Amino acid sequence: MLVSAKEMLTKAKAGKYAVGQFNINNLEWTKAILLTAQEQNSPVILGVSEGAGKYMCGYKTVTNMVKAMIEELGITVPVALHLDHGSYEGAKKCIEAGFSSVMFDGSHYPIEENIEKTKELVGICNELGLSLEAEVGSIGGEEDGVVGAGECADPNECKMIADLGVTMLAAGIGNIHGKYPENWAGLSFDTLDAIQQLTGDMPLVLHGGTGIPADMIQKAISLGVSKINVNTECQLAFADATRKYVEAGKDLQGKGFDPRKLLAPGFEAIKETVKEKMELFGSVGKA
Ligand code: 13P
Repeated sequence: MLVSAKEMLTKAKAGKYAVGQFNINNLEWTKAILLTAQEQNSPVILGVSEGAGKYMCGYKTVTNMVKAMIEELGITVPVALHLDHGSYEGAKKCIEAGFSSVMFDGSHYPIEENIEKTKELVGICNELGLSLEAEVGSIGGEEDGVVGAGECADPNECKMIADLGVTMLAAGIGNIHGKYPENWAGLSFDTLDAIQQLTGDMPLVLHGGTGIPADMIQKAISLGVSKINVNTECQLAFADATRKYVEAGKDLQGKGFDPRKLLAPGFEAIKETVKEKMELFGSVGKA
């Protein structure tokens, strides 16, 4: 069964830890993340970008695969299936397809329009018992071809969006998607602190979890971050392990070309990455 992310994030904010959102791309990704969450007794959020949704043959395919996998693998920890950086139309489609959580990213709209669209989705999600993530201040880097500048959100705008009754709020604090450049200035903790002062109990979301040093992650959690998104790091770990397998010529030995063998090292690498992140975020044993 899928659950809304509300309860797991309320508990995380109160308990000063964060729940990881790990983005999925296919069956192997999903299985690796679900099994690790179960082994670590940790709540988990499966993130699906609009591009990944399309790649996996649509949101209905994703919902059915995730629900069936939870049942077949005997997963009992709380699992939320969440649209990542959704458009207004994408959010509605995911709600129809049975996602338990959606993000509406209206950060590129003027604040009035972001408020208006977020407000409408708050109404729909509340009625259906789904969690809703909103965003203020675009997150830098590239995701599905959209490049954001990595702004710091205006804390007052964050309060306006938080007051609409969203479940969790993503605010730009100098974080970016993908690898961080050498000259990255780091997270703006002053901005994060100001946002938390104004938004109180609202669980805050840190995007771009890949490559943020452990001490910055811990400080962000201490300042109210309760959900951390990780995508690129699992992709890098998967690619690295797969490359090593092929470079070692293992696909040419025996039945090493069998996809169940070929994809196994990458699968294990995702599991290891997810485990490390759950330990760092403090969500182990919190299911
Ligand atoms: P990374 O790819 O940098 O880990 O960011 C993931 C993310 O924020 C998804 O929304």
